[in-house]
This record gives sequence, structure tokens and C-alpha cells, in this order.
Amino acid sequence: DQTGDLPRILLDWYDVHARQMPWRVAPADRKAGQLPDPYHVWMSEIMLQQTTVAAVRDYFTRFVARWPAVADLAGAEDADVMGEWAGLGYYARARNLLKCARVVVAEHGGAFPADHDALLKLPGIGPYTAAAVSSIAFDVPRTVLDGNVERVMARLYDIHTPLPAAKPELMALAETLTPQDRPGDYAQAVMDLGATICSPKSPACGICPWRDPCLARTRGTAADLPKKTPK
Ligand code: ADE
Repeated sequence: DQTGDLPRILLDWYDVHARQMPWRVAPADRKAGQLPDPYHVWMSEIMLQQTTVAAVRDYFTRFVARWPAVADLAGAEDADVMGEWAGLGYYARARNLLKCARVVVAEHGGAFPADHDALLKLPGIGPYTAAAVSSIAFDVPRTVLDGNVERVMARLYDIHTPLPAAKPELMALAETLTPQDRPGDYAQAVMDLGATICSPKSPACGICPWRDPCLARTRGTAADLPKKTPK
């Protein structure tokens, strides 16, 4: 069954090509049972909203050096956190970051919950971030759907419905692929594929691990997808 093979093919690719990031645990170490610090996963995902990996890297490193655990961040002065955030933009994220840290300490004993619904109740955490934290930090099989994943799904299944109307359809497709085995690595693998190979303008289909099953590649439509409703 082809659908069952798709996650395995991507995970095999990720084992070799996973990008190293300071908040990540490498695939070999995850297979040996190591998971990342949920505090790191949460902070990286908040920083990565509307911001590139390259821009986030040094901010992330400075934040966790200064506030090594969520309880340290919860005890920080607002002005110190806003000052450390300066330059990253979208400052509501920094205010919610601090609010969320304080709620995690006050209501969860300083440990991020693994449960998707508990995560959703926290300040600044929406469906995307809840799915990212539960899958990447805890290996709970939740489906992450960001812009990268939307593009990969639209191409893999040659979906011409324009965004944003296509979101539910793309989410349903993404959910059918999410594996029970290694869901955290799988989530990061789809995002890496979208960022490095299945890029918006000139996808590198020739080196894509999903080139054979990809309908858009077969039909020559990859560079035109996803369609977008004009603003
Ligand atoms: N963009 C947002 N979160 C990411 C992650 N965990 N890996 C790669 N790119 C991302």
C-alpha cells in the first residue's frame, strides 16, 4: 500500500538529511529514546512563527542561556524579556511567551502538558503550536499543518483548490499520512522537505524522496501549487 509507505520513505530521508537546529534532537538520538526539552520545542515554535530558522537560531540560544527552564522565564521581568526579543518582531509573541511560562508554572507545576487540549488552553498556543509541541516534544501522533506542509500536500496530491479554502482538505490528507511510529520526526521531516526541497518557486523534484508518488511532479504542476485566492 503506497500510502503506508509514504511516511517511511520520508523518515528514511530525514535520517540522512535532518537539519541540525539547537532545539532539535537528532533522529539517531530520538530513536535511542531521547526527546527534546518541551520548553525548547515550545520556545522555538513560537519564535518560528512568521520568522525564518536563520533569524531564530541566535535568539533561541540567547533565551535558553539566560532562562534555562520555564520557571526561570516565568520569574523574569517583562522588560528583560521584551529587550531580549527586540529585533524578532511580532511582539505580541513575546508578551504571550511570558504569560504562557507563568501559566505553565502556576497551573502545571513547571512542566509543559503533553495533551493537545491542555496545550491549546495556554496563552499564545493555537492548533499549529499545540500539534508541534505534542508531536515533537512528546511523540504524540498529532498533525502539524504550516505553510510548508500545505505546499507539500497540495503538490503530493495535486490539489488545485486555492488557499485558504483548501486548508481542511490539506489537513485531512496530512492526517492520513501522520504515522504512529516516530510522529515527531515525521512532523519535522515534512517541514524540512518543504523548506529545503519542495520550495515555493523552484522545487528540486529530482532529489525529492517523494518524487515517484508525487502527483504534481508526474503532471508537471508542482511550481504552480498551491493555488492562492487573490487578495
Ligand atoms: N518551522 C517551524 N517549526 C519547525 C521545525 N520544528 N522544524 C523545521 N522548520 C520549522
